[in-house]
Amino acid sequence: MPTVTFESSDGAIKKTVDAPDGGSMADLCDDHEAPIPFSCRSASCATCHIEVLEGAESLVPPESEELDVLDSIDSKPPKYRLACCAKLKPGAGTLRVRAQNDY
Ligand code: FES
Repeated sequence: MPTVTFESSDGAIKKTVDAPDGGSMADLCDDHEAPIPFSCRSASCATCHIEVLEGAESLVPPESEELDVLDSIDSKPPKYRLACCAKLKPGAGTLRVRAQNDY
């Protein structure tokens, strides 16, 4: 079961949770009130932009709509992702992400 640590953009708020085997980062954030801001939830606004500090291999590679938004803000995976699009792989692992926008 992956362990995910969410950090606010200033690093002041940290929350570590056990994740289900696979699944959406957005649902995980909602379920645990993670300090990651969301707006559109559909790969258009980049409010949910996150930096992957550790464990990028725990995430399923991004699809084209996420890549388009990341490209538009000059961010490249695997270091940067959109939390509304990212999905966790099943299995063990440690993932640590930091919000790039204020919560
Ligand atoms: S919430 Fe708008 S791109 Fe993720």
